[in-house]
Amino acid sequence: MPAKPTLLAPSILSADFTNLKVSIELAEKAGADWLHCDVMDGVFVPNITFGPFIVQAINQCSDLIIDTHLMITDPDRFIEDFIKAGSDQITVHLEACPHLHRTIQFIKSLGAKAGVSINPATPVSLLEPVLADLDLVLLMSVNPGFGGQKFIHGAVRKIAALDAMRMELNPELVIAVDGGITEENASLVVAAGADALIAGTAFFRAPDPIAAARKLKGLE
Ligand code: DX5
Ligand code: ZN
Repeated sequence: MPAKPTLLAPSILSADFTNLKVSIELAEKAGADWLHCDVMDGVFVPNITFGPFIVQAINQCSDLIIDTHLMITDPDRFIEDFIKAGSDQITVHLEACPHLHRTIQFIKSLGAKAGVSINPATPVSLLEPVLADLDLVLLMSVNPGFGGQKFIHGAVRKIAALDAMRMELNPELVIAVDGGITEENASLVVAAGADALIAGTAFFRAPDPIAAARKLKGLE
């Protein structure tokens, strides 16, 4: 059986916001699988980005899966708005959800895929009680808040640990890795068990994004 192709999700955070449509077309042309939308509230993380209004605009420009990463406190308040705006997948942070199980059920009840993200200092073992309920885990390989940061190597062990845990609890779970992904470390991350790579800088700031996408997906 051939290996599953690695999924690529360019992070819109590093796109050209003066010409978002062109950036999205570039991602499509490069064979992107998802468009990763980083939502930050200036509270959970020390940065502010955009809300459902921009996600809606992105959705209007593309048929790709909209993968929305909510780096916000108390995300339950806005989940419905982001799904109405066109998010196909909603990922919340474990650290931001006092009632994580309830939040996951809420996302699914609204028809979207449910993901949970954990920060670099959060152990994967905390995901165990909800793993069977999840479609996706987004492992942070930088501290969330900004694009262009350096990959934290400790993430590799966490990917492998999560890969082992899903065999038992949820073989269909998608493991995505977010932060500091480069053409150099992509194969290491995939070998550890990642199915999807989020890439901002390594895609949108590459001299040749189409060639970069092929390398990130392991096609050359
Ligand atoms: C960081 C965001 C990432 C970020 C990745 O808080 O969650 O999605 O855009 O950017 P790069 O690939 O540049 O590290
Ligand atoms: Zn992200």
